[in-house]
Amino acid sequence: MKKFTPFPSICHKLPVSIDSIPNDSKKRGNIEIHKGKEKISTSEYQILIESLENSLDLTSEISNLPVNIPHIQSIEAITASTSLYSTNLIKVIIEPDDSFGYKLRKWPVIIGGLGTDFIFTSKANYDFHIMPDRTPLLLRVAIPISHINCDDSGIIDSSFWNIFAGYGGNLEINLKEILFRLVSFFKRPFEEVDDDDAKRAEWYKACELNHKKVETIIAYSKISKHPKLFTGELCLEWLSPLMRVVVEKGLEEYWNEIVVEEASGIFSFDLFSKTFCDMLIEEVDSYEQTSLPRRRPNTMNMSGLILNEIGLEALMTSILELIIMPLSKLCFKKEAISVDLNHHHSFVVDYSVKPGKDLFLDMHHDSSEVTLNVCLGREFEGSGLKFCGHFGSSTVRKLQHVYNHKIGKCVLHRGKHRHGADHILSGQRMNLIIWARSSSFRNSAACGLINPDGYPKEKELENPDICCLSKSNDSDYEKYAFESQKESMVRE
Ligand SMILES: [Fe+2]
Repeated sequence: MKKFTPFPSICHKLPVSIDSIPNDSKKRGNIEIHKGKEKISTSEYQILIESLENSLDLTSEISNLPVNIPHIQSIEAITASTSLYSTNLIKVIIEPDDSFGYKLRKWPVIIGGLGTDFIFTSKANYDFHIMPDRTPLLLRVAIPISHINCDDSGIIDSSFWNIFAGYGGNLEINLKEILFRLVSFFKRPFEEVDDDDAKRAEWYKACELNHKKVETIIAYSKISKHPKLFTGELCLEWLSPLMRVVVEKGLEEYWNEIVVEEASGIFSFDLFSKTFCDMLIEEVDSYEQTSLPRRRPNTMNMSGLILNEIGLEALMTSILELIIMPLSKLCFKKEAISVDLNHHHSFVVDYSVKPGKDLFLDMHHDSSEVTLNVCLGREFEGSGLKFCGHFGSSTVRKLQHVYNHKIGKCVLHRGKHRHGADHILSGQRMNLIIWARSSSFRNSAACGLINPDGYPKEKELENPDICCLSKSNDSDYEKYAFESQKESMVRE
């Protein structure tokens, strides 16, 4: 079988800011395809691109599908109103049975999007190249999955398309064939894995890991403290009184009535009611009492819990769609990727003066495009949230603002905004953190075409502020900390 790499156009650069989009960007330009960091010839996959461009109009193909396709529970056209690029999107729900490797839960997959529209690229020197259609299509499993042919964003890799390139590229690419292939993706390893023992073992390992995660979610759903939190619906009464009013009037129109810009790029607003904050804390407490497996939010935290892994991912998605996406579009108007947020990593952090708990968080930036950070409780003193500059900017280590948490209130900022949590002085503080991410941006970054943090690095013009230094992330930490200590000794 002819091997084929038909997915190079997954590697598109994205514009850094809305200002950087050229006015004539809607015109098709010269083809410039990348595989990793290398530009490659277009001839190999030209047939595929032409085939898709000529024949694949996803939304209209839905009506041409057979009435019943095994394991396709539903299929619908969807609109991603927040996306710059996405048109012609469809959402498919795959319903597995016991013969599937990936069973126990239904799998939503988004097909289309970036791949079906024009895309352009920017370089650090603002030299633009308009890109051709991103083809083949983008396929993304819309809930967390561990699968060897998927990345952390749920994006399915190029092996999906190999079957279309085999047999001389004669297999017709249409929605029906894509759906059959998609079902197979959840069922067993792709064909090419069959003669590769190591790869097959890897497939089963990922499958087993996924199975355990789903079993955990199912097990906890039977003993959860507040089942209402697990329906995925964000109830209006869970919002703060002011946010409720603004949402009812229209968040996008009346957002100014509630959102305050604390400092450039740092926005705060009342979000949740005390009742909701208490419910979420009780749920986390309740999970911690079980013997079910748990993972801490990231390598920097000893305490806390990943909510997507206990069954709260649907509720977090609602918060992403109803609050974070519209407000990001308004708050970060010039940041192109802030309008293309479509998945998240959500967790609760827990700071306490008790032994063995996190006391503070070193300076860092998040693995997110936009971060929502809400204080849930309980009683505490200290624990301010210190902001410095943006990653890669000349002021990255200059103090900008200190935000003081208040229960129910949140702060919204770009992931690349350097920040850290001051020491907690008494009590316990629990916050909900949602790292909102853009799959198209993450894709470009994964292909090495853009810096994951989005900026070319600027030279720092002044010495950093000591409070903005990171012991774990800055190689020159010791140097500046030592100099500062020396200066204060001289002053004394
Ligand atoms: Fe953070």
